Amino acid sequence: MSNPALRDSKVVLAVTGGIAAYKAVEVCRRLVDSGAHVIPLLTDGALRFVGEATFSALGSERARVSLFEDEDPIAHVTLGRLADLILVCPATARSLGSYAAGISDDLLGATLLATRAPVVVCPAMHAEMWEHPAVGDNLSLLRSRGVTVVWPEEGRLAGGDFGAGRLAGCDSIVSTVAEVIGADKSELRAKGGSMAGLRVLVTAGGTREPVDPVRYLGNRSSGKQGYAIAESAWARGAEVSVVATTSRPVPPGVEVELVETAEEMRQAVQRRRDADVVVMAAAVADFRPSRMSAEKIKRSGKPTTIPLEPTPDILAELAKTSPRGQTLVGFAAETQDLLGNAEAKLRSKGVDLLAANDVSAPGAGFGHDTNAVVMIDSRGGRASVPLSSKARVAEEILDRVLALRSQPECGEEPSNTLEGSDGGGRLPCVGTRPDRDLNLLVSHP
Ligand code: CTP
Repeated sequence: MSNPALRDSKVVLAVTGGIAAYKAVEVCRRLVDSGAHVIPLLTDGALRFVGEATFSALGSERARVSLFEDEDPIAHVTLGRLADLILVCPATARSLGSYAAGISDDLLGATLLATRAPVVVCPAMHAEMWEHPAVGDNLSLLRSRGVTVVWPEEGRLAGGDFGAGRLAGCDSIVSTVAEVIGADKSELRAKGGSMAGLRVLVTAGGTREPVDPVRYLGNRSSGKQGYAIAESAWARGAEVSVVATTSRPVPPGVEVELVETAEEMRQAVQRRRDADVVVMAAAVADFRPSRMSAEKIKRSGKPTTIPLEPTPDILAELAKTSPRGQTLVGFAAETQDLLGNAEAKLRSKGVDLLAANDVSAPGAGFGHDTNAVVMIDSRGGRASVPLSSKARVAEEILDRVLALRSQPECGEEPSNTLEGSDGGGRLPCVGTRPDRDLNLLVSHP
């Protein structure tokens, strides 16, 4: 049963070493069933009670068990950034104490310090331990830092004892996780006043250019980054339209038009060309077959070449007639000389902001849930977003869009500089979007 708050949210489920660890198996399954993407993390103590294989099989990804022996050299940072929420279930007295004291001597401790995501802890321990003032003090400290506690219940404990300290029920743990994630999203939407009144158009996914009725020329783009930007703009109160080649869940009220080819995308974008912010996150094909074969090309037909012709450059076309006050954002998919190519593209496309990603870097670009981008803008501002969830990258891009929109138009005195800009590297506005500036001169003499 999918839960809308949990759908597509990334939950790091951290299991620590207590007898209640076996109950985390059910919590894992329930979260996955509710639509969450669950990444299990098991401490050394947990591995004494439950198996890594169980969580790898039930979670959405393999279980992480080591700070130093993981294939990812910075597993704690990756998990911390990826997570929409970290759930520590069960949380032993020791894990609560370490977290309160800021000790990062294992993968869980380091991940908890590396994250900015909300954290939910589910204490479970023997009644005497639960009633010890040290545990109470640690929990008070954690709560004062914003950590949510799912209180343990009274009931049967290990060794046949009875008392307080028994892990809360699965229902109450899963519903608390949903509530905290939901509240986090609403907080963003409340903060979201930041884009209220703005119309935002986002393109997403890779176009497909038909060769014949069954084949096409395409690329590996999944559309995840574009949809993350759409969701983030919606969460900030914008009126959002998406033109995409792939379908993904969207928040209520977000308009989606599905297209297939570059030409269809161009037409759909042109119909919404007066948006206040346009983000071209789609991977648009640069070439298409000059003509589509009406029939399936047969093996016996021995085709040796498929003649190609260029597709329209949707973004460059938009920039030429972009209305005053519109913010145009492009992406650059590169595999070499990221910054050099991005700077050339910023100018040739005539956009306000370019988010460049090295699509060959591990964990970045097409298909992944994470991305890393370098953002450069027409005012000379530069900032990089290290490997993070696509939702986080979306937030950074929209923050930058808003920062640019708050700056004076070209020709006016700048009132501030971009945070993260390289200071003296500011470029003159005129000339970076030559055709648009020319257009403005013509229409506003
Ligand atoms: N783009 C577009 N129309 C095209 C090709 C690209 O609007 N026909 C947009 C993309 O959506 C992206 C930006 O232009 O925002 C850069 O796309 P990218 O594929 O990185 O660069 P190209 O312009 O295709 O140039 P190259 O392939 O030579 O790097």
